[in-house]
Amino acid sequence: MGIVVVDFGGQYAHLIANRIRRLNVYTEIRSPMVKVGELENVDGVIFSGGPSSVYDKDAPPFNDELLNIDVPLLGLCYGHQLICKKFGGSVEPGDKSEFGAAYLDIHLQKDVFSGMQKRELVWMSHRDSVSSLPAGFEVYGSTNDCPVAAMGDPNRNIYGFQFHPEVTHSEHGTDMLDNFISICGSNRNWTMKRYIEETSKKISLQVGDLNVFLLVSGGVDSSVAFMLLNQILGEDRVLGLHIDNGFMRKNETTMVEQFMKKSGFHNLHVVDASSEFLRQTEKVVDPEEKRRIIGEEFIQVRDRALADLKLNPDEWLLGQGTLYTDTIESGGTDNAAVIKTHHNRVGVIEDLIAQGKVVEPLDQLYKDEVRTLGETLGLSKQLVWRHPFPGPGLGVRVLCSNGSESSIQPKEVEEKAREIASLSGYELDILPLRSVGVQGDSRTYAHPALVSGDLNWDKLEALSTSLTNTFNEINRVIYTLRSLTTTSLKLKKAYLTRDRLDLLREADSVVMEALRKYKLMGDVTQMPTVLVPLSSDNSSEYIVLRPISTDDFMTARFSRLPPAFLDEVCDQLMELNGIEAVLYDVTHKPPGTVEWE
Ligand code: XMP
Repeated sequence: MGIVVVDFGGQYAHLIANRIRRLNVYTEIRSPMVKVGELENVDGVIFSGGPSSVYDKDAPPFNDELLNIDVPLLGLCYGHQLICKKFGGSVEPGDKSEFGAAYLDIHLQKDVFSGMQKRELVWMSHRDSVSSLPAGFEVYGSTNDCPVAAMGDPNRNIYGFQFHPEVTHSEHGTDMLDNFISICGSNRNWTMKRYIEETSKKISLQVGDLNVFLLVSGGVDSSVAFMLLNQILGEDRVLGLHIDNGFMRKNETTMVEQFMKKSGFHNLHVVDASSEFLRQTEKVVDPEEKRRIIGEEFIQVRDRALADLKLNPDEWLLGQGTLYTDTIESGGTDNAAVIKTHHNRVGVIEDLIAQGKVVEPLDQLYKDEVRTLGETLGLSKQLVWRHPFPGPGLGVRVLCSNGSESSIQPKEVEEKAREIASLSGYELDILPLRSVGVQGDSRTYAHPALVSGDLNWDKLEALSTSLTNTFNEINRVIYTLRSLTTTSLKLKKAYLTRDRLDLLREADSVVMEALRKYKLMGDVTQMPTVLVPLSSDNSSEYIVLRPISTDDFMTARFSRLPPAFLDEVCDQLMELNGIEAVLYDVTHKPPGTVEWE
């Protein structure tokens, strides 16, 4: 029957299933309380990571009998610690947390590590570590800060990794999972064509005689969903709704409209609702509050559009191009933490989902799978490979503030961080604002550290990792590319206004044009430009560039862009009226998320 992934609420639990499917093996996700009887004929079980500590009183309930089933077991992160504890070893908070890249020294190049090099690049996200092994287990690998980064009992075929082989930034992680599948002896007969067949059956059954009104931003996900639904139900029973919410890129709505027509879609309705969205978010500062209001306004606009078009709401289900990433980051599985509420997972939509009124043909997929699906369906490469753009758009890239400083606590952190930075030749300040991050499967909302000095990517990467691993109060590191500021900067009162959105639209368009000109659109997977209300004169503001590379968006590396590109972009951005500095985000994910809010 394939592999079962037991989900402890880890951000990457479902990604494990994605990786196994990519190895052509059928996978199912189950809860930690699943009965052993329901797992008859499985070839192997993988225990996922999760936000809890194995000693937490509120750790997810777990059916201990799963440890006795006679198939190979693999525990990842929390799963690794759980296996250790349950088989008699011990787990403790480590001296140091590890987030992002780490080097794994492999002691045993066999079984799950068959064919691996002596040293492998892996991706970590943990605070606790295994401190003593259970009987029968051997250490398979360790990192500088984690002595038992991999363990195994080859006689019983039970293994545990503290790192995440499922994320693509773990360089040979997929090969390690492939080794596990070989140990399990699974059949390799799962394909994307089979996914389309099964999803088509599922959607036809769910929609019955009704129709689907699909929100189409024009990005990759909604376009693939639009195409798939048109194919499954026919153009007469699908209507696309593109909403200009005022948070779009420069000229985006016109471009989407033209592109859809050119691609042969004639069932797209376009609405300009920018004034309504701006009115609703006028004085909102808190990122989650902003996300909730924007998400709910989408549904209000949809309801108005149905009425304007004289369509019976009872006959039109809501369609969305939701991906699995959106669900998991919004805390949408039993044990997962909320990292950020995606626009398609706000309260009113959750209610509609509970009533069976939402159709989401991509909700089990990741971005890389959606792109494969788009190509399989024959969608143009230009569309399939567009950079993603979040539903709340520039709304979550214009940071807002009431003007009250949010200074770092405890104060000594800044002094200690300065000492660490100066060892690498950098000056450091902690910014008086916060941004969202993801660390150890949980949301963080902490301060960025701003560093200034030479543009040396290796040094900046090492410093960024060291600062975010050492201080819980710092979840991002930013580098000063260009600044006019000599006096001390302050957080200024600033909200989500059309003026600020227009300024960011111009800045974003400068950055996108430069990416095209320097042919960097492929190397860089996404490049948010963020407007931050920091100022030395209370009028101009700061811009942050956030280029990253990733396949699945669950983990990401910050990109290292060439100096000529950076010079040109800085020159152009500094010419915009109202920009006084350009900063560059040098944080991987984890510990930072791609978007700042
Ligand atoms: P984060 O910031 O969570 O972003 O690392 C991962 C990917 O998701 C996109 N994103 C969103 N997409 N609705 C969306 O459709 C949202 O509310 C949303 N928030 C983040 C983000 O741009 C990145 O590609």
